[in-house]
Amino acid sequence: MCGIVGILGTDAVAGALVDALRRLEYRGYDSAGVATVENGRLDRRRAEGKLKNLELRLSNQPLQGRTGLGHTRWATHGKPVERNAHPHMNDRVAVVHNGIIENFQELREELTARGHAFQTETDTETVLHLITDCLDQGLVPVAAAKTALRRLKGAFALAIIFAGEDNLMIGARQGPPLAVGHGHGEMYLGSDAIALAPFTDTITYLEDGDCAVLTRETAEIFASDDRKVDRPAIKSVASSLLVDKGNFRHFMAKEIHEQPEVIGHTLGSFVDFAAGQVHLPDLGIDPAQIRKVSISACGTAYFAGMVGKYWLERYARIPVEIDVASEFRYREPPLEKGGLALFITQSGETADTLATLRHCKEQGQRIASIVNVRTSTIARESHVVLPTLAGPEIGVASTKAFTCQLAALACLAIALGRARGTISETEEKVLTHALAEVPRHVSTLLHNEPHYERLAHELSRARDVLYLGRGINFPLALEGALKLKEISYIHAEGYAAGELKHGPIALIDEQVPVIVVAPADELFDKTVSNMQEVAARGGKIILISDASSERAGCALETHIQIPTVHSFVNPLLYAVPVQLIAYHTAVLMGTDVDQPRNLAKSVTVE
Ligand code: F6R
Repeated sequence: MCGIVGILGTDAVAGALVDALRRLEYRGYDSAGVATVENGRLDRRRAEGKLKNLELRLSNQPLQGRTGLGHTRWATHGKPVERNAHPHMNDRVAVVHNGIIENFQELREELTARGHAFQTETDTETVLHLITDCLDQGLVPVAAAKTALRRLKGAFALAIIFAGEDNLMIGARQGPPLAVGHGHGEMYLGSDAIALAPFTDTITYLEDGDCAVLTRETAEIFASDDRKVDRPAIKSVASSLLVDKGNFRHFMAKEIHEQPEVIGHTLGSFVDFAAGQVHLPDLGIDPAQIRKVSISACGTAYFAGMVGKYWLERYARIPVEIDVASEFRYREPPLEKGGLALFITQSGETADTLATLRHCKEQGQRIASIVNVRTSTIARESHVVLPTLAGPEIGVASTKAFTCQLAALACLAIALGRARGTISETEEKVLTHALAEVPRHVSTLLHNEPHYERLAHELSRARDVLYLGRGINFPLALEGALKLKEISYIHAEGYAAGELKHGPIALIDEQVPVIVVAPADELFDKTVSNMQEVAARGGKIILISDASSERAGCALETHIQIPTVHSFVNPLLYAVPVQLIAYHTAVLMGTDVDQPRNLAKSVTVE
């Protein structure tokens, strides 16, 4: 979602602001802008589309101010056009914002009645007029900003600068993350440590309700009750090198190919392979007493959770409830005190997942999370974290984070199974041995790309694609469909194979490819029947399986051969072909693979 950066610098900052925005591009955006204070006056440049458009604007009309804000906008209120791009400013104040001001309509009406003329359709412009109104009433800039902030409802990270104030910047956080970067005689604000890494590795994360008053020399932080508070400055490990694509055409391809290594790292952090044992951080709850696990997550992370449900129920014999985080609270599920609530997230900032976590905490749940970004809000607010070691994931479509989430969930299932006595020491050894083999098999699967390129030609002509899976492979069918639709824009749906005849079969004809995720496990023969139902109606079957083509018992358009492994680890392997199918189809169709339209990497609004 929107990216924010602010610099109180010693030289002209526009170039550095654009560089920092480039590091935030991965979050997804549709317009960008910068504003600086130059000789006491505010001025800005904005452009629709990619950062290169903004750079062109700046090279034709440079900005020279040493104090400035930059922003990449992911449209929520108002079209993604230059008029609605941030910074929003008048001759007194400039504002950039990530999030949603929920009471903007009411504030807009009030301010309009007081003579403020709105130029845009954005909720952010309300903040601009609110602060200006406070200045009009004679408040000094810091007081004006704090007074305005108290009127805002919703989720926001804000950065604010003022005309005539070359050494002042205000940051505020209520929801989406915002970090202060401490430099030598310079000060920074940024949506994350990655944006600030070229400038400083000393970072203070603002807490919800915080307001930071920054100068080049000082960073004062006030909590929501205006009490001055100390927030720790920590050393960030984000690299100052712009995370690059290496020899790959896209971040997504690079991240798919990193999987053998990062799955290995993640497994290695939980498994003692020599002893054949899993060691997890202490969950702070007696595994034998866990009556239910409630999993919440969004999108791809939710599908990882669905696989986790199968594992936890089968191997640890714990009932698991799973919800998309945006729905969990509205279901008002009864939660027994001391229950375990598990959250899965790459970014650790997803607004719905965070809101659900807070709800569960209020209900007395023990909060565990599987998180990729260690410094994220969800990691910080959890009682216990199982970190995934996927490294920064830049491609908007999640790939390596997903398989690392699966790796962590597999370890959790083994550890809880052992602690509850539902799997033996010998079984633990067998399962950890199967896990140890995963990186090698994933690596093998990555060597067959020409096959996917050929398949992509077929899929790129389709209007609809169906994915089928049964049992633990059903979530992979859902994930395959999500991957394909989000980056190739081809309509795709995942179904439980057995559900086919209860409706989706009506869609099948010669034009509809059906991708079947079906290892040769105890459910394979049932899925064969479903494939035959598809074949009988002319549907083109693409089978992803370790079974031989003959066992399918019908003509296959394509057979993607997967190594035979212990069925426990199948999901970790079958994730790879569904990623490669989506990737190569999107490349062939010429879409923006790493930053697909309308999508954001870190979804910080509900
Ligand atoms: C899909 C994708 C999204 C995310 C979802 C949750 O490829 O990336 O569906 O999985 O937005 O994000 P996190 O994991 O950051 O909570």
